Amino acid sequence: EKSGYEHFMLKEIHEQPKVVRDTINSVLKDGNINFESLTDEEMQNIQQVYIIACGSAYHVGMAAQYVLEKLTSLSVRVELASEFRYREMQLAKNSLAIIISQSGETADSLAALRLCKEKGVKTLGIVNVVGSSIAREADNVFYTLAGPEISVATTKAYSCQLVAAYLLAMQFAKARGEITEERFAELIAEINTIPEKIEKILEDKERLQWFASKVVNIKDAFFIGRGIDYAIGMEGSLKLKEISYVHSEAYAAGELKHGPISLIEDGTVVFSVVTQSALYEKTISNMVEVKSRGAKLFGLTTYGNYNMEDVADFTVYIPKIDNLFAGSLAVIPLQLLSYYVSVGKGFDVDKPRNLAKSVTVE
Ligand code: F6R
Repeated sequence: EKSGYEHFMLKEIHEQPKVVRDTINSVLKDGNINFESLTDEEMQNIQQVYIIACGSAYHVGMAAQYVLEKLTSLSVRVELASEFRYREMQLAKNSLAIIISQSGETADSLAALRLCKEKGVKTLGIVNVVGSSIAREADNVFYTLAGPEISVATTKAYSCQLVAAYLLAMQFAKARGEITEERFAELIAEINTIPEKIEKILEDKERLQWFASKVVNIKDAFFIGRGIDYAIGMEGSLKLKEISYVHSEAYAAGELKHGPISLIEDGTVVFSVVTQSALYEKTISNMVEVKSRGAKLFGLTTYGNYNMEDVADFTVYIPKIDNLFAGSLAVIPLQLLSYYVSVGKGFDVDKPRNLAKSVTVE
């Protein structure tokens, strides 16, 4: 049931404020995070975290890595499930493997989970589908409450996975005594603003629709960003290629000059995600570099960073929020953009060619 929306993807994009709220509320009580899955003592003893997933869920893992590293002393690695399972990795003692999966049935993620268990590594699933294989087999589960996701391209499950990762990182920091009470309370207050801020971005979707109509015929695109913005660029790029069939590549902004910059020519579109204050100037200078080679720049930043308009040809602003959570807002315009490009090209948005909702083959 599309409830009046033209496609499931658009409906699911609009459900995000609610399902993100539900996922936050499922563990938040009186300013505290209540996990039944991992005790504080277990969190204190863990030293190494492996985050293992595929596709968009892997991009969540990339963002989660930055947040965990910022808030805790944990050592974190993010791994593609399809690579991890065939490596001969020495898994550290006192480690935790976090498997992120919407469906809970992705073959490679499930195989990676089983491998971790065999090697005696404790496992935690961040899973959306109740009773799925990963949910059943993981030692612990944090359920995202996105509800059924019909569109092949994930949006709402992705957003719920992100907040689940933030909450987990915050609780790790708290249990390990690595965050002050004030900072913890501040982050609780900030995370609670995500749903209303997503709502605000959605109110402005006509602007993205207009912009999408200008780029509907592009053949190639680049996404650049640093830190969390790089992780969000990866997701924006995947969305664009999977439903709009635009060849798109995401690069860590600092990596451009090590090769890909040779592909920039007059009119090449570069989407730049620039929400992280500490990295703002660095990414802006990468934008200037590609602009001087003819790139058309789309800038995605936070309200207040108005000098973005000196360099970008088109700027989209997201509401202010703690840098750690900015990805949850920055991804929304990118979802809308790929949606409108796909609609503009007349593609089957909810069922892109060659793709299945749940990848149960290896
Ligand atoms: C992209 C997308 C896929 C999935 C990936 C993992 O929009 O949906 O990249 O994220 O196939 O699927 P799950 O989360 O079910 O393990």
